[in-house]
Amino acid sequence: MHSSNPPLALLADPQCTTDRVAKLAASLGISLISEPHGQVLLLRLTPEHLELCKLGDPELPGALWVDFERPSARRRHCHPGQELLVKAAKVRHTTGPLVIDATAGLGRDGFLLAAAGCRVWMFEHNPIVAALLHDGLERAARSPHTAAITNRIHLVVGNALRHLPELDEQPDVIYLDPMFPERSKSAKVKQDLQLLQLLDDNNDAPEQLLLAALAVRPKKVVVKRPLKGPLLLGRPPAYMLKGKAVRFDVYVGTPKEISIK
Ligand SMILES: C[S@@+](CC[C@H](N)C(=O)[O-])C[C@H]1O[C@@H](n2cnc3c(N)ncnc32)[C@H](O)[C@@H]1O
Repeated sequence: MHSSNPPLALLADPQCTTDRVAKLAASLGISLISEPHGQVLLLRLTPEHLELCKLGDPELPGALWVDFERPSARRRHCHPGQELLVKAAKVRHTTGPLVIDATAGLGRDGFLLAAAGCRVWMFEHNPIVAALLHDGLERAARSPHTAAITNRIHLVVGNALRHLPELDEQPDVIYLDPMFPERSKSAKVKQDLQLLQLLDDNNDAPEQLLLAALAVRPKKVVVKRPLKGPLLLGRPPAYMLKGKAVRFDVYVGTPKEISIK
């Protein structure tokens, strides 16, 4: 983790088994504390879920955890075809396309694509974010509403730049939603994203991700951008789908002139 990030510690509710708690702290390489301290960024294990919280900061949400069963999420998952992302990632005449979500984050977009019938491999390089996502996916796998969707998802904890060149299967689509610096300065940044940004200010350049994705030669590379954000690499996509705050740039086919050197 980057040195400018606030220190992170794990706090577990007494009902959680000590074995599980110790394993989690060791796997994430963070210390286990028994009492919260003022401004410390906390990962908190409760009997229900794993959550990230920053205490004493009214600007940020109390706690953040992954919940694919929230009413708003369930509504999206019931009608995924209406979502712009699903339209952007659609591949004609392909059943169960393989989508690589190379910047999985809290998995909302990847889960939506899986709800639309895609097989989704999620890559997330930040171990804390990946732990939150893994926890959410585990709970979703136990729910009758979301189990079938979860079956189509595979989470890989690691850097997409390393994994993309050595995929076992040729993906149909690679999806990128990189963290953009301009997001952090925007007043409209969603609060949970602000919390995530506290964890990771050490992201690879989005341009690097686009080059790596294009080099895999999927049928499509879909990039989520701020509505008015500049084109990555200054390169116009085949087409764009625009929403109110974001747009999806869709690169189709393999641009021969792109070099990844
Ligand atoms: C804006 S968030 C993605 C949000 C996600 N689309 C969602 O629906 O929750 C970007 C995420 O990409 C991750 N990330 C950035 N670069 C990465 C890389 N090279 N490999 C894997 N994950 C990466 C960051 O850690 C962060 O969690």
